[in-house]
This record gives sequence, C-alpha cells and structure tokens, in this order.
Amino acid sequence: MNALELREKAIEAMRAAYAPYSGFFVGAALLCKSGRIYTGCNIENASYSVTVCAERVALFSAVAAGERDFEAIAVVGGKNGEIDSPCAPCGVCRQALAEFCPKDMKVLLVTKEGYEEYTLEALLPKSFEL
Ligand code: THU
Repeated sequence: MNALELREKAIEAMRAAYAPYSGFFVGAALLCKSGRIYTGCNIENASYSVTVCAERVALFSAVAAGERDFEAIAVVGGKNGEIDSPCAPCGVCRQALAEFCPKDMKVLLVTKEGYEEYTLEALLPKSFEL
C-alpha cells in the first residue's frame, strides 16, 4: 500500500459522507501495521453535536476490530465532495488519533494533485496524556 493508494481510499470513503446540513464531505483512510485499511466518512445529525467526523469513524472502526498499530492516515474533504484545499483534522480528531497512533505517524492531507504530508505531532504538539 503506497500513499497514493491510501489517498484513493480516502476519496472513495468520502463518497459515503452523510452531510445534509453542512454539505461538507469528508473521507479518511487509516492504514494499520497489519496492512488492513479502515475507512470512515463524516456522519451528520439533525442534532448537530451528534455528528461524527470521518477520522474518528475510521479510527474507532479499526480499534473496535482489534487493531492497535497504525502507520498512516489520509484525509480528504470539500464542499459537496469537491477537493479544493487540504482538509486538516479537527482538534478532537487529532487528540483521538494521539491516543492510539505514534507521534511520527504520517497524516496525509489530500490535495487536487496529490497530498501534503505531516506527522501527527506536527499537527498536535503536546497532546494531552495521562
Ligand atoms: N468534519 C470531519 O469529518 N472531520 C474533521 O476533521 C473536521 C470536520 C466534518 C464534520 C461535519 O460533518 C463537517 O465536516 C463540517 O464541519
């Protein structure tokens, strides 16, 4: 699995987004050390705060399936699913990822042409830890 394939999986996942309120579609693809990929999309709710982000859907699906070791995540988003500017994970998703993923895990933010690459630590320095 290379980065461009993971990018494609995130784009594919974005198609399932349920976003009737914001019209903003997000997809995420999380690559595990096992080689498996778990995907997620944002799922909105009429009671807005019930909405869940694509990244956490992907992460929690993986964790619920028993995965604990993660290698990379690709994230894509845009109004009506159009890829315009890179969609960076929200703060809550960064903290959720920090619970399970190594600080040097690659976070790929999908662009029209390819992706921008960050580490989780670059996006969330000094994450909360107990
Ligand atoms: N959203 C995500 O799926 N991931 C993020 O990291 C940021 C925001 C979703 C939530 C909501 O459905 C829509 O984008 C607009 O906020």
